[in-house]
Amino acid sequence: MVLKTIPALQSDYQMQDYEKLVAEFDWKEAEKAFSWYETGKVNIAHEAVDRHAESFRKNKVALYYKDGNRNETYTFGDLKKYSNKAANVLKNCSTLEKGDRIFVFMPRSPELYFALLGALKIGAIVGPLFEAFMEGAVYDRLDDSDAKAIVTTPELVDRIPVDRLPNLETVFVVGDGVTEEGKVISFNKHFEKASKEFEVEWLERESPTLLHYTSGSTGKPKGVLHVQEAMVQQLQTAKWVLDLREEDVFWCTADPGWVTGTAYGIFGPLLAGTTNLVVGGRFSTEAWYGAVEEFGVSVWYSAPTAFRMLMGAGAAAMEGHDLSSLRHILSVGEPLNPEVVRWGMETFNMRIHDTWWMTETGAQMICNFGSMPLKPGSMGKPVPGIEAAIVDDKGNILPPNRMGNLALKKGWPAMMRAIWNNPEKYDSYFLNDEWYVSGDSAYMDEDGYFFFQGRVDDVIMTSGERVGPFEIESKLLEHPAIVEAGVIGKPDPVRGEIIKAFIALQEGVEPTDELKEEIRQFVKKELAGHAAPREIEFKDKLPKTRSGKIMRRVLKAWELDLPTGDLSTMED
Ligand code: PRX
Repeated sequence: MVLKTIPALQSDYQMQDYEKLVAEFDWKEAEKAFSWYETGKVNIAHEAVDRHAESFRKNKVALYYKDGNRNETYTFGDLKKYSNKAANVLKNCSTLEKGDRIFVFMPRSPELYFALLGALKIGAIVGPLFEAFMEGAVYDRLDDSDAKAIVTTPELVDRIPVDRLPNLETVFVVGDGVTEEGKVISFNKHFEKASKEFEVEWLERESPTLLHYTSGSTGKPKGVLHVQEAMVQQLQTAKWVLDLREEDVFWCTADPGWVTGTAYGIFGPLLAGTTNLVVGGRFSTEAWYGAVEEFGVSVWYSAPTAFRMLMGAGAAAMEGHDLSSLRHILSVGEPLNPEVVRWGMETFNMRIHDTWWMTETGAQMICNFGSMPLKPGSMGKPVPGIEAAIVDDKGNILPPNRMGNLALKKGWPAMMRAIWNNPEKYDSYFLNDEWYVSGDSAYMDEDGYFFFQGRVDDVIMTSGERVGPFEIESKLLEHPAIVEAGVIGKPDPVRGEIIKAFIALQEGVEPTDELKEEIRQFVKKELAGHAAPREIEFKDKLPKTRSGKIMRRVLKAWELDLPTGDLSTMED
């Protein structure tokens, strides 16, 4: 069933005049919000924290943190003080200099914020790592980027293969009673004594800030490099798309290990001077509804998988919770089904606003704005200042309602500036030096709304997390029982897609259920829980091209009972 367009519900959104902004807006306008516009001194941590701490927002709450029995509140003044202390610890206890890579590998916590902001204050490039990563995944990222330091916790430190990372000089461990030996430095011990004053490192608009590793369909994960200037778009979209206002309490449920968790779990709201909620631990219906109620969350940014889980829990799960603080709800990461939009209308009497963007884009690009009619199933329209189009493989713009490559005109403020150590890969994203080609297929209707259709490549989106089949296949091949492996995303009603692996075993190995479980645990232990195949199917042989490449599209066609298409390149 096609849901009808839902009109805008409120009249006071900043985006009233979308068409006028599209015609007239210039990113130069947005730069005026920053102190560097006057001073020329650039540092995103200063803009996100210190600028507010030195204003009427000094005693305003910047961060609420809740996890189990920790329930803490930090003002902008506190955040300035603690990120300064962190900066001093990082600077004084290592040889880190401007431009060096430091990773932050820890669960969501205030300390993660202090360390990440502190690292930016010293001008280092920060690589956020999701806490679920295991040794293999951690190694690949630290090795590729030649990391000099990492901040982690006692629970995670054993997953860092220090011996195999000769250039990793310092391992900061956040926690009580940490023994300093070898490369290990106790973060807490030095943090307590550290000065709360710190002169931030002043940088250029083009200076790098974050290095987010993300997956493609081939090769190891690649380091997507962002720069200071991303803040211009992060703040502007926080105003226009998140619609943040002075009195809001904002909750982005994403982990800072992923780009949503940094761009909108840290920068967007803090740059806007907004109170930010961080909730630790795993998803649970009770904890989530409880958090909205306890902290009076007014703007909520989450993902379709989470909404579908809440939807599945039904109305009973909401009983006893007062969710009336909610004013604006948004979604990212996977297609937002019209079904979920309808649930949002029924449950909250509110529209759930889809937003489309990618690690590489650095900030929101195509969105449903509060002020515009919403077509369920559509991601919305380009943010003013962004030019999006559907192009063919040569870069010709296609007319409305034709499916093609979702592309963006090169040069928006938050655009990645490099793939670490891999200029060819970076160049391969661009067509005619004009269009950034996203890897998504989509169409635009006659009203200018974009509709997501799928990935052009084999990248898997499971529960909103982006997983590369190649990385999992490579890991599977390390298992002694496996000769061949092909991995695909299989459509799933709750998770969007789940990971399915087709596996050919060594001769004589019994294809048992115990072996499937062992293989699953193997990937879980070596890579990450979310990368482990939920389904495994043993095959005698996998479809390959004559050059020996596994044909994932044939696997997918088998799985979904679709025509296999052209098999002329297949061996046999
Ligand atoms: O396929 C698109 C999907 O997520 C991919 C980007 O993944 P990642 O870099 O991990 O960033 C996720 C969040 C910023 C895209 O190529 N995607 C993202 N948003 C949407 C989406 N698919 C459908 N609808 C969306 N709103």
